[in-house]
Amino acid sequence: MGRSQPVRRAPPRGLSKPRSVAAVTRVAVATRLDAPQRERHTGCLREIEEVRRVLQGTVTEVIAALTAAIEMKDRYAYGHSVREAGYAVALAQAMRLPEQQVQDVRRGALLHDIGMLFIDPRILRKRDQLAEDEFEEVKKHAGLGARVVSKVALLKEVAKIVRHHHERFDGCGYPDGLADDRIPLGARVVAVVDAFEAMTEERPYRKMLTLEEALAELERHAGGQFDPRMVKPFVGLVRRKVADSPIPRDESPLLAEVVINGTLT
Ligand SMILES: [Fe+2]
Repeated sequence: MGRSQPVRRAPPRGLSKPRSVAAVTRVAVATRLDAPQRERHTGCLREIEEVRRVLQGTVTEVIAALTAAIEMKDRYAYGHSVREAGYAVALAQAMRLPEQQVQDVRRGALLHDIGMLFIDPRILRKRDQLAEDEFEEVKKHAGLGARVVSKVALLKEVAKIVRHHHERFDGCGYPDGLADDRIPLGARVVAVVDAFEAMTEERPYRKMLTLEEALAELERHAGGQFDPRMVKPFVGLVRRKVADSPIPRDESPLLAEVVINGTLT
């Protein structure tokens, strides 16, 4: 009697989800593919992983270019998006969000104000309070930014964060007046860290708040402007990091370094 043929079973499914080569190889062994079949299978998977890696690298470069464009348009935005992304990742990790969501939140924080590129710079540079029609103009940046980001298929979830980063937990935000869990989770994360970064940053047209004042503001607006489930871990995280590594002055870059990296370098 000849050598028995290996049992052929349906190939493992689920390649739409990222899986490691090792994990899929284990599945191939379990489904009793013979050695040459396993080798071909593993070779294909390695190629897919490589394509995925190159694609993600390209997306990261595109995001870096767009972030640079935002900062070139508004000199006061310099460093703001990058610090905000660091806070957003720290909060997302403290909340134990899945890796893909942490990645989306990071990208959403970097690109949240990309729609400002289309807003009249005279309005953005105005030091006095905005007139009602000017504020209506500024509000358009959320929808315009989302339209740009949604052109990249891999950034579909990020586009939702960009569109909804000015929604309020109580439903009184814009552009859609969504409330509570109807606001995408990433957008609720970005709303908290965006406000914190803005409050602790020096701007010519408003006074910078101290660290404690900024944290108190977040707590005061938890349940109104912000999701309390985001405020609590973020305030706890900042207090813990600053207690472990005190900062000499309440300055945004120093504060961000301690909260994001855990220490001053
Ligand atoms: Fe914004």
